[in-house]
Amino acid sequence: MKLLYSNNKTREIDQLAAEALGIDSFALMQKAGAAVHQYLDTHQRLLVVTGPGNNGGDGFVVAELARQQGQKVKVLALQPVSKLTGDAAKAAAAYRGTVIDEWPDENFDCVVDAIFGTGLTREVEGSYASIIGLINNNEYKTLAIDIPSGLNGTTGQIKGCAVRASQTVSILGRNTGLYTLDGPACCGEILFADLGVPAVALQSVVAEAQLMNREKLQELPAARANNTHKGSFGHVLTVGGQAGMLGAVLLAGRAVLKSGAGLTTLITDQEHQALVPLYAPELMVSGFSGTSDDEPLSAGKPADVVVMGMGMGQSQWSKQLFKLALKTPSPLVMDADGLNLLARSPVTPEHLRVITPHPREAARLLDVSVAEVQQNRWLAVRQLARRYHCVAVLKGSGTLVSDGEQTWCCPFGNANLATAGSGDVLAGMVAGIMAQGFSPLSAAHLAVLWHALVGTHSRYGFTMTASDLLDDLHEIIH
Ligand code: APR
Repeated sequence: MKLLYSNNKTREIDQLAAEALGIDSFALMQKAGAAVHQYLDTHQRLLVVTGPGNNGGDGFVVAELARQQGQKVKVLALQPVSKLTGDAAKAAAAYRGTVIDEWPDENFDCVVDAIFGTGLTREVEGSYASIIGLINNNEYKTLAIDIPSGLNGTTGQIKGCAVRASQTVSILGRNTGLYTLDGPACCGEILFADLGVPAVALQSVVAEAQLMNREKLQELPAARANNTHKGSFGHVLTVGGQAGMLGAVLLAGRAVLKSGAGLTTLITDQEHQALVPLYAPELMVSGFSGTSDDEPLSAGKPADVVVMGMGMGQSQWSKQLFKLALKTPSPLVMDADGLNLLARSPVTPEHLRVITPHPREAARLLDVSVAEVQQNRWLAVRQLARRYHCVAVLKGSGTLVSDGEQTWCCPFGNANLATAGSGDVLAGMVAGIMAQGFSPLSAAHLAVLWHALVGTHSRYGFTMTASDLLDDLHEIIH
């Protein structure tokens, strides 16, 4: 289980860890530096760039160990050593190698970023920003200690500018900010050092979230009993596609079936009715006229799940469908324009189970700006879940899933997924998995994980389209 913590909580963890190990904070810094150094001992020429606080202190410990091992090392101290205090001053005093105060004109194998960690309190500017620019513009490998400098360790926001590391060694408590928003783009590969502290010693610290783990996908049934039939795997109504917007709802409908549901019926504009079987003959279809006596969501046996909103628009036709969603007895997954209508609706559908907003839709749902959502995605996803009494999926780099109590973060996925229709596929997957009997939280978790892994491993790379994504769903399961 990989838990994620805000900056404040990682400070508590540092204290508990020192107590558990029976050592003081300086000895803990030496242990942290040693753990980081283990990732560096193959590099012969190191430049360690240190800042004003304890992150810089960690850097001095690393530098001294490297020097003792015969590596060629220099420390570029952005804060003069004479101005350091506490453990950082002790670490600097223990370092016997060269300290410089400007960017050197020589080659290195690796730059170690020890400028700022969890103590970053304001925008990075001036000489700090210039040096971060130089670090990012060189071709060396860059290893960040604890957090890439300039990244807010709680929110994942770049404060002015930030180091783009090739690797980041997270120490003792994984920071939430490494995994969402700008975090994944700044951290590179995330390594972890637990310093030998048993997890039980830290269990009193409340984690913000848990990291998703690919093993969860094993919960999807690989084999099916022979005495089952399509009705055993659920029927989903896939609702959307106003006139001229058939593509979104087609993708969602295909995703419902591809993720394992037995049946789906598209409820879409009447003019699409004859087209659907030409594109995807496996989808059933029912044209919706837009009049109030047409009630496709409650006709006959209730569907196992209704997923609504893909390409739905916000016209009178769309509003009529949204009104029907308020009455449906089936569990409801709401996406795209369904969310925009939800944001303006005085009532929330009683059976709403999952919402899948991107940051702009989330901002409308919470009645705040997009910047406010992104400033603290962890808080935003919890607020969405609590306000709408359902599971919320906040999409974007480092997608978050929360039921208002537990929050999960997806460490997979990349910009291959930034393609038209990718969200429609995700909504269909959530509904398709729910229809097979998974809880809304589990279905949202599984869908996000599966979708992200397909994006990460896509053989098409950035040329991947939403249809390619659908075609590759089976690859990840195998
Ligand atoms: N520009 C200049 N100085 C800044 C800025 C900024 N934008 N933001 C913060 N500072 C200064 C603070 O005033 C403080 O002196 O940086 C210092 C904090 O540096 P950190 O090393 O990030 O914080 P600190 O709490 O000392 O150490 C935490 O130590 O346990 C290790 O690496 C671990 O990340 C952790 C770090």
